[in-house]
Amino acid sequence: MRIDVFTIFPDYLAPLQLSLIGKAIEDGLLEVHVHDLRQWTHDRHRTVDDTPYGGGAGMVMKPEPWGEALDALLASYGPITDGPRPVLLVPTPSGRPFTQAMADELAAAPRIAFACGRYEGIDHRVIDWARQYFDVSEVSLGDYVLNGGEVAALAMIEATVRLVPGVIGNSLSLVEESYSAASDHLLEYPVYTKPASWRGFDVPEVLLSGHHGKVAQWRHEQSVEITSRRRPDLIT
Ligand code: ADE
Repeated sequence: MRIDVFTIFPDYLAPLQLSLIGKAIEDGLLEVHVHDLRQWTHDRHRTVDDTPYGGGAGMVMKPEPWGEALDALLASYGPITDGPRPVLLVPTPSGRPFTQAMADELAAAPRIAFACGRYEGIDHRVIDWARQYFDVSEVSLGDYVLNGGEVAALAMIEATVRLVPGVIGNSLSLVEESYSAASDHLLEYPVYTKPASWRGFDVPEVLLSGHHGKVAQWRHEQSVEITSRRRPDLIT
């Protein structure tokens, strides 16, 4: 899998070199390229934004640097003879909500790029133009506004890369977690480790019983209970 991130704050993406994702890069399972959008500006001030047509507060990212950046990306791919069109994700609070199902789908994509907008967003013609060459999705991390797409891109990359075969040593740990199909898309039950008693709080008796059937039933009940309380929308 190859991931390209376009941003005016490349340093925001430094954590990609750490931990599981860093290891996946080292192991050759993943290639990550972070690009400073300003390299595709041509004025002295390296301008990437301008005032919005129609008026209003804030600034809009100019189309020209984005066009050149994406041209360079397409050129670097070379002719794509195998597999699907490259994916272009545009993080924005007005996008479709990012879900585990999307992460599952992205984990199979050979080429993914992120266009991280700042200010009031990217001139929309960039998105319309890019649809000719990419599978473009405008995606939101949640119903709140971040300062830009970088943190959202980091989260989406982490959610995706951990699903790429070979990235997580024990793939069984992916099966039982929250939102997984095997857990009926419920939230995960609470977990405990040793000691059995800590500061007057005890591990639920059933988990010490060694009775696998009862443990599984207790965990399922906990999942249903927690999900109905916190996320009733997930219960079908
Ligand atoms: N950019 C700003 N806010 C965002 C959000 N909630 N999701 C994705 N990208 C964003």
